[in-house]
Amino acid sequence: MKRTLVGTFALAALTSFAFAKDNSSSDKPKSGEEKVDQTIVITGDDKMMYGTTAFEVKAGTKVKVTLKNVGMIPKIAMGHNFVLLKKGQTAFGFGPQVVANGGSHANDFIPAKDKEKILAYTKMLGPGEEDSVTFTAPEPGEYEYLCTFPGHFALMRGKMTVK
Ligand code: CO
Repeated sequence: MKRTLVGTFALAALTSFAFAKDNSSSDKPKSGEEKVDQTIVITGDDKMMYGTTAFEVKAGTKVKVTLKNVGMIPKIAMGHNFVLLKKGQTAFGFGPQVVANGGSHANDFIPAKDKEKILAYTKMLGPGEEDSVTFTAPEPGEYEYLCTFPGHFALMRGKMTVK
């Protein structure tokens, strides 16, 4: 009986330790940061590919998208960003117009006049860099995203489905 009680106590202690450890993980928003319901991590690489080309979220929830450039080629030649478009906009419609509309290295290939077509976007990232953007998932539907570095829309695009 005594042995069982000790065992139970040890298990409880271990469990609470596991909880404490989990609560202090770096994923938890630090004070002052927005609470998020879902975090999506997307990689971008030297083959001009996103690691995630589709994800699903719930309308009205706080979504955090983190983009990580896992490549090695300098940003000037192989930069990556995550640009989430409003409903009805397409990667194939937005991508080819970026430079003509004023996109350049100076503005991370996000033309000022095109910002009205965008829901959320990260910085343009060089190798080893990452950036996150947090937004509230809009009304249900499908929303396309792309990398706006010139030409990358051909391969670097995906779809967010809001349920
Ligand atoms: Co890119």
